[in-house]
Amino acid sequence: MSLGVVDFLDERFEVRRVFREFAEHPVPAHVNWLYCFGGITFLCFMIQAVTGVLLAFYYQPTTANAYTSVLHIMDDIPFGWLLRSIHSWTANIMIIMVIFHMLRVFFHAAYRPPRELNWLTGVILFFVTVTFGFSGYLLPMNQLSYWATKVGTEIAGAMPLIGGYIQAFLLGGEKIADPTLTRFYAIHVVILPIVISALLVAHFFMIRKQGIADPL
Ligand code: HEM
Repeated sequence: MSLGVVDFLDERFEVRRVFREFAEHPVPAHVNWLYCFGGITFLCFMIQAVTGVLLAFYYQPTTANAYTSVLHIMDDIPFGWLLRSIHSWTANIMIIMVIFHMLRVFFHAAYRPPRELNWLTGVILFFVTVTFGFSGYLLPMNQLSYWATKVGTEIAGAMPLIGGYIQAFLLGGEKIADPTLTRFYAIHVVILPIVISALLVAHFFMIRKQGIADPL
């Protein structure tokens, strides 16, 4: 952005002051590379959001077309293979990074008061991240997707009392078919992105408000 545009916006909305308040925050002296995992997890999420939106331009969520639309992305779309590979690799890296982040927070005992609510928000964030992976796994509709989803939904179905309802909700019928794919797609591209965005806003707000925990 040219300086003229920044001056124009600054005169009207004080963008320089707002940016300084947002970005210029002292980092405590004890912070080291172990504290990077939360940020890397967030970077992974942003990569997933961008590559996911681009994949959605070509992906078709029906049992008849899903697999061929993925082949089309891989073989015909310029850099489609790269886009899909980045989305798939980053999904795995995000799960590894969120586990490292959680271990860092745990071993530094950063869940202690007053950060209990942020730990709880984090636990939900962890499940949301894993559910992103599980719901995305079915989408290519290949053999691996089918059997992983069959095992996953049957595990959910084995839960006492509510298992049957969860399984029926996920499958949208008796077995894996079009309604299942539609539901997994809706969960993957609509519900989870909304939920994770809200949780991240809360997570970052609490970190800003409470600061990074002191060392033990
Ligand atoms: C999408 C997932 C997540 C993202 C993007 C994320 C991001 C971050 C970032 C950037 C920080 C500040 C720097 C740092 O300590 O790394 C942080 C701090 C924190 N996170 Fe997460 N986080 C996620 C999941 C989790 C999980 C799974 C937990 C625990 C169950 C958790 C608990 C916390 C706590 C308690 C803090 C404060 C740490 C302190 O004050 O030292 N977060 N998070």
